[in-house]
Amino acid sequence: MKNCIDTIFERRSIRRYKNEQVPDELLFQVIRAAQYAPSSWNRQPWRFIVIRDREKLKRISDLLPYGKFLSRVPMAIAIISSEKESDLWLVDGAIATENLMLAAEELGLGTCWIAECDREEIKKMLDLPDGFHIITITPLGYPEIKPKAPSRKKIEEVLFLEKFGEKYL
Ligand SMILES: Cc1cc2nc3c(=O)[nH]c(=O)nc-3n(C[C@H](O)[C@H](O)[C@H](O)COP(=O)(O)O)c2cc1C
Repeated sequence: MKNCIDTIFERRSIRRYKNEQVPDELLFQVIRAAQYAPSSWNRQPWRFIVIRDREKLKRISDLLPYGKFLSRVPMAIAIISSEKESDLWLVDGAIATENLMLAAEELGLGTCWIAECDREEIKKMLDLPDGFHIITITPLGYPEIKPKAPSRKKIEEVLFLEKFGEKYL
């Protein structure tokens, strides 16, 4: 079993998937992991919508400038969050999504955050009640290609001591 640090370093955004469905047992594990994310006042404003319908995936992908590959994934999960349930719905939803993504990595599954999902057309397609926003729609499946990690800024650029700009290293 990988440890948490390994999982963090090994997770990649996966854009190509095998044509294979994820069993419910694994799906439930990633959703449970998302539910165990911290949330403001433990409000848990999130919900998760599994999307397997090929036509729907295609119609959603048509609306996403950087998510065209969604039309070819075996399934996707829309992570949604309610502004009526938490003032910090965006933060809560983002943390739950990261938990889901790390759990997926641990289980040998891939995910990818896709931006610009919170569109009225997509909300209508998913029948979202008033007050719910889409945090992201991520594919969930077995990676066909796992890319190398895109580089990160050097630690010296992001780590300060006592005040902004005072380099720690
Ligand atoms: C808020 C956010 C929006 C993103 N939007 C997209 C997107 O629309 N399409 C996409 O292919 N990847 C998207 N990504 C994935 C990033 O490109 C990716 O996380 C980054 O390049 C680092 O690569 P890695 O996730 O493999 O470490 C997004 C990531 C985040 C956190």
